[in-house]
Amino acid sequence: SFVVTDNCIKCKYTDCVEVCPVDCFHEGPNFLVIHPDECIDCALCEPECPAQAIFSDDEVPEDMQEFIALNAELAEVWPSITERKEALSDAEEWDGVTGKIQHLER
Ligand code: SF4
Ligand code: F3S
Repeated sequence: SFVVTDNCIKCKYTDCVEVCPVDCFHEGPNFLVIHPDECIDCALCEPECPAQAIFSDDEVPEDMQEFIALNAELAEVWPSITERKEALSDAEEWDGVTGKIQHLER
């Protein structure tokens, strides 16, 4: 499946959700995740993310491996999101900042 990683946190542009044919994105306060059991690996979302936060699970960078389990965990508890919405207000300032997992809100 595909995995949402660190750079989505505090940006949450939501362009990704519009293209998903199986509606497998789930939304938290400042981050989205992909449900690994629902994702069909179509790869449509990956190029849509302006923050380049989406990777195939076999291409997740070494320092972001924990996001694979985090997507699976949070997709079970967060509600589905299928329509694009405004990005978070300071998304541009946070885009590209590393180690944003410390700011993850559950
Ligand atoms: Fe949805 Fe396809 Fe992205 Fe999986 S790879 S989350 S099915 S758009
Ligand atoms: Fe996040 Fe990128 Fe989607 S920032 S909400 S994964 S478009």
